[in-house]
Amino acid sequence: MDKLAIRGGRRLDGELRISGAKNAALPILAATLLTEDLVTIRNLPHLNDITTMIELLGCLGLDLTLDEKLSIEVNASHLSGFSAPYELVKTMRASILVLGPMVARFGKARVSFPGGCAIGSRPVDLHLKGLEAMGASISVDNGYINAEVEGRLQGARIVMETVTVGGTENLMMAATLANGRTVLENAAREPEVVDLAECLIAMGARISGHGTDTVVIDGIERLHGCDYTVMPDRIETGTYLVAAAATGGRVLLKGTCPHTLEVVLAKLEEAGARIEQGEDWVSLDMAGKRPRAVSIKTAPYPGFPTDMQAQFTAMNAIAEGTATVTETVFENRLIQTHEMNRMGAHIVIEGHTAIITGQPGLQGAPVMASDLRASASLVIAGLVARGETVIDRIYHIDRGYERIEEKLQTLGADIRRLSS
Ligand code: EPZ
Repeated sequence: MDKLAIRGGRRLDGELRISGAKNAALPILAATLLTEDLVTIRNLPHLNDITTMIELLGCLGLDLTLDEKLSIEVNASHLSGFSAPYELVKTMRASILVLGPMVARFGKARVSFPGGCAIGSRPVDLHLKGLEAMGASISVDNGYINAEVEGRLQGARIVMETVTVGGTENLMMAATLANGRTVLENAAREPEVVDLAECLIAMGARISGHGTDTVVIDGIERLHGCDYTVMPDRIETGTYLVAAAATGGRVLLKGTCPHTLEVVLAKLEEAGARIEQGEDWVSLDMAGKRPRAVSIKTAPYPGFPTDMQAQFTAMNAIAEGTATVTETVFENRLIQTHEMNRMGAHIVIEGHTAIITGQPGLQGAPVMASDLRASASLVIAGLVARGETVIDRIYHIDRGYERIEEKLQTLGADIRRLSS
């Protein structure tokens, strides 16, 4: 298993280009199931999760042509099967996103039940309830979800009791081909949901209200092909900004979307960073200073993103002062703090809150990555720690960060991959 070895203590300084957003690319790839026409998707990030989704579509019988610039042409005119197997779903929960499109277009789908994962139990009950409200019958056998409908799904008003990104995406995709109007209430407002909606609209879907908590979809009989470019990754952007801030450095990130990161940028300013931004770039300068501790509480968009929580926890670990970090979206997403304490951080967990007393420095140590964003926070801790940090189980990081060691090397970090 590959590891990352980091010698900390260098200030990050330089510029980078941000990759396409994983969490937008995954539902957009699933959306290609909704049409028999050719769909071209550009700006896919080169990540393990994307490869898994491509493998899943291939296993359903789609024709896929990937070029070296990470554009893909997908032809879903015929499917050879309707089953998303356990082997793929267990490696990537986002596989559940093929359920809505398949049942909407083909009237049937069988998808392995995604289990829990390191960050919590992560049920999919709201995806299933929504499809049932649209007329699908759902049954479960041998760990698989079977969804079926005679004819077309029916439009429905669906009030989701919790804001769910994947649930909103699955139901929005299903509703594009339903008979009549679907109204999704308490819908997720995340930029990735909006990007998916824009792609569906480019395929002819009738959607309005995306980006608000009420999304209205007027179903039509067929969607057509399109050529769509995936939005930049706001979490990758935020991660490099925090990494630069934690090291007292500066960074210019190009090809990104700062307007999707308002709360994160405000918190970085509160930590003492100077932020400048344009339409598609953002820069941060800490002018060699140690960051001030900043308290955060995660919430669905436009609140503070849970996917940025671990990185801010790492920055707070070496900041001046004390901060609290409260996780409200997932039940078990503060696990990385135990590894950070092994590096000399002072973090106490009380319920869903981490109380962090900033230390003047951390010491390198062998540590273990437990999930994607937790791994990113260990990289940040490693970048500021004295001595060497070796991070094990970095397959988690390869799911969501494209060539992280190369990008950090560009910024002057001493980081290398140890392949085994
Ligand atoms: C998406 O996961 C992202 N993944 C996650 O990113 C992100 O952390 C999360 O949204 C929240 O922003 C992708 O987009 C592929 P949810 P998703 O449904 O859709 C509960 C990363 O690091 N819930 O919004 O699975 C659920 O348990 C990843 O890139 C139900 O109770 O998240 C959680 O507590 C990790 N029933 C909350 O809602 C349901 O049917 C939000 O989950 C669905 C969800």
